[in-house]
Amino acid sequence: MSNAVEVQGLVKTYNKGEIKALKGLDLVVPQGKVLGVLGPNGAGKTTAVSILSTLLIPDAGQGVVAGYDLLKEPNKVRENIGLSGQFAAVDEILTGFENLHMFGRLYGMSNSEATARANELLAMFNLTDAGNRPAKGYSGGMRRRLDVAGALVARPQVIFLDEPTTGLDPQSRLGLWKTIRQLVADGASLLLTTQYLEEADHLADSIVVIDHGEEIAAGTADELKTQLGGDRVELTLTPGQSIEDAKSALAQFASGEIQVNEEDAQLLFPVDGGTTTLTRVLNELESKNIETIDAGLRRPTLDDVFLSLTGHTAEGDLIEKEEAADETEVV
Ligand SMILES: Nc1ncnc2c1ncn2[C@@H]1O[C@H](COP(=O)(O)OP(=O)(O)O)[C@@H](O)[C@H]1O
Ligand SMILES: [Mg+2]
Repeated sequence: MSNAVEVQGLVKTYNKGEIKALKGLDLVVPQGKVLGVLGPNGAGKTTAVSILSTLLIPDAGQGVVAGYDLLKEPNKVRENIGLSGQFAAVDEILTGFENLHMFGRLYGMSNSEATARANELLAMFNLTDAGNRPAKGYSGGMRRRLDVAGALVARPQVIFLDEPTTGLDPQSRLGLWKTIRQLVADGASLLLTTQYLEEADHLADSIVVIDHGEEIAAGTADELKTQLGGDRVELTLTPGQSIEDAKSALAQFASGEIQVNEEDAQLLFPVDGGTTTLTRVLNELESKNIETIDAGLRRPTLDDVFLSLTGHTAEGDLIEKEEAADETEVV
């Protein structure tokens, strides 16, 4: 089967070429799979999604989306995709039901078809109880769910979700993840952008990491983590223990740089040999009378991957999380 999305060499500049938002990006979403496009703020995610959903014309590049040529048959592409943008397109005055019903009518459904579809989607997104209230009173999480539901009214086989959970509290995020997994289980192909490494890890079959408009890595979450080398040992010393002594005792076990967090008395370093090495590390510390309050082995996270690839963390992340902190779900 052909790919749901296959585009090559996407280039997009803004301000007469001054801002290079995309510098030649290739993206492939196999049928029925989830591609996660992971990158910090300004990486070019929204620009890429806007091009794939025909809202923007690229300066260069070409490809096929949902079986149609992106540049030659944009109307056909539009008819066969669902898009939930970064900023929700919900009409605040209308109720949840009315929003979805209106979309159905716009897509040419009869009144009864649109009603049935709206009710089906309200149930799927856990909005049935709120369905008859104006969207104005919805929490951020509910609004976001309604927006994603809106993208699905016409049962598109190719779905684009641009940062679907940005700004949501953790509980709403988990709820949306569940729904997204269900969509894919039902056979849809999905391209999802995110700045949350965890989200890409949970939802995506494969991941393209982008920064400054270009790909800096690609693969499955496991492949990306393996690129960084195997497991890491993470130790927290008992207060008062010398970090320097620990560091010199452990140098022989580290297969890469030992990172030190002075404030929390933590040491982190890559090792070969898994738990065998962890045991040797602990024996060595014991023989030197260096005490720990916590010691463990962990696989690299996508955070480690991102940091090592770009030299920075996915910064936007922290800010967004703080903004989301006081948002609560009211049903
Ligand atoms: N309409 C626009 N006019 C000028 N610059 C833009 C516009 N949209 C995006 N950009 C710039 O293009 C780059 C990529 O932006 P965007 O695609 O929104 O990234 P992301 O969605 O990953 O945060 C950024 O430097 C951004 O400031
Ligand atoms: Mg964006």
